[in-house]
Amino acid sequence: MTRPTTRTAYVTATTLDGFIATDDHSLDWLLSRDIDPAGPFSHDAFMAGVGAIVMGRSTFDWVERHRAETGDAWFYEQPTWVMTHRPLEVPDGADVRTASGDVTALHPELVAAAAGRAVWVVGGGGLAADLARAGLLDEVIVSIAPVTIGSGAPLLDGHVELELVDSGVNGEFLCAHYRVVSPAAREGS
Ligand SMILES: NC(=O)c1ccc[n+]([C@@H]2O[C@H](COP(=O)([O-])OP(=O)(O)OC[C@H]3O[C@@H](n4cnc5c(N)ncnc54)[C@H](OP(=O)(O)O)[C@@H]3O)[C@@H](O)[C@H]2O)c1
Repeated sequence: MTRPTTRTAYVTATTLDGFIATDDHSLDWLLSRDIDPAGPFSHDAFMAGVGAIVMGRSTFDWVERHRAETGDAWFYEQPTWVMTHRPLEVPDGADVRTASGDVTALHPELVAAAAGRAVWVVGGGGLAADLARAGLLDEVIVSIAPVTIGSGAPLLDGHVELELVDSGVNGEFLCAHYRVVSPAAREGS
């Protein structure tokens, strides 16, 4: 398989024990923590290079609950695909599309929409791991919060092999940038 040159990156915050949300999809463990938006591993800097976004339904539903609480507008200007089996209400002013089935089959459409910029996999860990196991995820970039929660939504569902590229500290977070070791490279090693 020829890999597209567009990078596909899973960028998220995680607990130290590898969860991106609690069992009831709360991010309270994350949202109150110190972080410098312009500091190392800046999310704003990453977003400037993003051309397309993909997320699962639980993640979309969290965004919508958060927006309902805060009154915020839709966060993203990039075309965004939500993987779901159910209809959803597209937020005002948002370019939100739905898809279902194999996320790896959607990947060429994400790459085309990104038009040379990155595809951001927001989560969850099932989608990211499916792309990784298909050799379609290039990078995992995590900001690790100094907390464990014992159970919840997994950072990556199943075995994904990674290689550390870079690391840093931003506020309370230890940040790490990994390259995904593709299954083909693993078999060849
Ligand atoms: N810490 C962070 O920075 C961060 C980042 C991202 C997300 N999060 C949070 O992490 C949690 C992730 O939740 P999650 O593990 O449940 O993952 P998710 O991927 O957000 O949602 C999973 C749901 O998406 C739908 N789905 C996923 N793949 C699909 C496919 N191939 N075809 C059709 N539908 C598909 C299914 O819902 P339906 O069948 O019901 O449609 C599935 O139950 C959320 O609470 C989110 O807010 C945290």
